[in-house]
Amino acid sequence: MSASQSERRPRGKFITFEGIDGAGKSSHIAGAAALVRGRGLNVLTTREPGGTALGERLRELLLHEAMHVETEALLMFAARREHLERVIEPALACGDWVICDRFSDATYAYQSGGRGLDKTKFAQLENWVHGQLQPDLTLLFDLPSSIASQRIAAQGRDLDRFEQERAEFHERVRLAYLERATAAAQRIRCIDANQASEKIKILIQEALIKYCL
Ligand code: TYD
Repeated sequence: MSASQSERRPRGKFITFEGIDGAGKSSHIAGAAALVRGRGLNVLTTREPGGTALGERLRELLLHEAMHVETEALLMFAARREHLERVIEPALACGDWVICDRFSDATYAYQSGGRGLDKTKFAQLENWVHGQLQPDLTLLFDLPSSIASQRIAAQGRDLDRFEQERAEFHERVRLAYLERATAAAQRIRCIDANQASEKIKILIQEALIKYCL
């Protein structure tokens, strides 16, 4: 494709996957990307916190070092700023799709809902870091926190700072996600994550086709 042809490509779509730890969202990202690629589109899959060299270093700190809730929120948004600048915006601008494992809805759910960060501060950070930019579609994997905790425990691995939190924390995170989904009903589509993986895959395909493809 020539440079002038590529300049005419429409802006890519920005899709995010969200949900409490153990909801199973990450395992469906590759399938979603394959569906989009099957339509002849370029897709980049990435994650937050992370997605850049600096962001991945911040992720290590965020997942394993104790810190004040505002430090945590600021570092989440610092990693996001870098991610938007270096990865997400350039990809969307040249017509590629971006599928991101978590974005600012996660900060709202975890740092505001879970940890109690003032919602006004969250809104200021969100506006500062990405202004009017929001995902074109967010798939929220919803699951009772008791089931999610059982799934995580069954994996038998070391848990990060968030996974180690008590059940009440995860329930608050879940409720904050649902509240955000109600406030942005056009953008955030809830998927019942308490069903067979094959059924979830079909629901994801249906949502992508209906709202984006
Ligand atoms: P995730 O990659 O989903 O975890 P895993 O590697 O176990 O699949 O996310 C890492 C953790 O970061 C998750 O517990 C949620 C937390 N998080 C926040 O608290 N706020 C945020 O803004 C983001 C993006 C993630």
